Amino acid sequence: MKNRAHPQGQSQFYFFLIFLAVCLLIVVINFRFSEPDLNLQEYKVKTHKGFITMEELNENVYKTFGYKIIRPTYPVPTVKMVAEPTCSEIFSGWREVSEQPQPTFPPQEIPEDRLHEFLLNNYTALGPYYVNDKNADDGEKPRNWDNLSEMIKWPKEKLGGQAYGNEGLSVYHAMQSHRLDGMSGVVIGSMQPWVEVSALVNGASKILTVEYFKLEIQEEFRDRMSSILPIDFASNWERYASTFDFAVSFSSIEHSGLGRYGDPIDPIGDIREMLKIKCVLKPGGLLFIGFPLGTDALPYNAHRIYGSVRLAMMFAGFEWIDTFTGESEQPLDLTSERLHAKPLFGFIQNTIVLRKL
Ligand SMILES: *[C@@H]1O[C@H](CO)[C@@H](O)[C@H](O)[C@H]1NC(C)=O
Ligand SMILES: *[C@@H]1O[C@H](CO)[C@@H](O)[C@H](O)[C@H]1NC(C)=O
Repeated sequence: MKNRAHPQGQSQFYFFLIFLAVCLLIVVINFRFSEPDLNLQEYKVKTHKGFITMEELNENVYKTFGYKIIRPTYPVPTVKMVAEPTCSEIFSGWREVSEQPQPTFPPQEIPEDRLHEFLLNNYTALGPYYVNDKNADDGEKPRNWDNLSEMIKWPKEKLGGQAYGNEGLSVYHAMQSHRLDGMSGVVIGSMQPWVEVSALVNGASKILTVEYFKLEIQEEFRDRMSSILPIDFASNWERYASTFDFAVSFSSIEHSGLGRYGDPIDPIGDIREMLKIKCVLKPGGLLFIGFPLGTDALPYNAHRIYGSVRLAMMFAGFEWIDTFTGESEQPLDLTSERLHAKPLFGFIQNTIVLRKL
């Protein structure tokens, strides 16, 4: 009889063994994934107030705005969002903000009740630098979209140098090092197609540009390039969710939410852009991002300057792989010294390569 072959006592013993194994597994998993106790007092980063401990930043900035430090990395702590919104919430949140009525002129000052959000509880320096690009007739207009067959022959210096002098070349260097062969990508904010052409030259096969202006792309490039308005992109986000191998944004999202271009005042306009990009990238997809780097500052309303404090929030959910300048084809280490090389309100513009986690 079966009962005899497997007597009661023995099966209880097996249950006990399995119970022990499960307990052990739980202990191991907890040990493996629990965050070690960080002594954040020991780590300091530079702000306009001087050197601040990561403990202070964690308490006064990150926790207030929904983040926490998970690794005390230099010169930018690694943080994560405590409760990350879903992509649906991210795109509908963006639409809600973009549909707010706008003043005739970009606001001269930040509304008092939003200051702490813009300045991250004063860990960002505020200075005046007012620009009105909403009502300007001589504002920048799209150029060269009908001249792609010429641009594709340009040397990298001319491509990268189109809009930002030598610094634009950092995009080319980053793409040359992280080739885009056969990949499909999205470009956020683009007056001239120098980023798109840099991507094509470095192997990309398909590029979608998200831009507020309607772009007239030269006919023979329409098999590889297309454009869409931000509102249409946001409305159709599900079509693009997790589809792109790479994304590029150079000198664009530092303006988001400052009103300079007639856009709505939004303290986290730039972070919304990062979250949207993350939604449309495939897991492991690359983001080539360039914006002003320095000590955290807001010369309102021209742009934001990103230092140790806000960079951490921008990069949440990404892994920082490399940093490129316009001077070298090789990546370099963005040390604290390089990041803070310029005086307050001064900045450098490199291309940082991030990987979506
Ligand atoms: C930031 O600084 C301003 C001006 O010095 C002050 O009025 C305000 O209370 C400070 N805000 C915070 C959150 O510390
Ligand atoms: C197209 O690019 C060439 C240089 O490669 C330049 O000479 C020409 O003026 C450009 N055409 C337009 C319409 O911008």
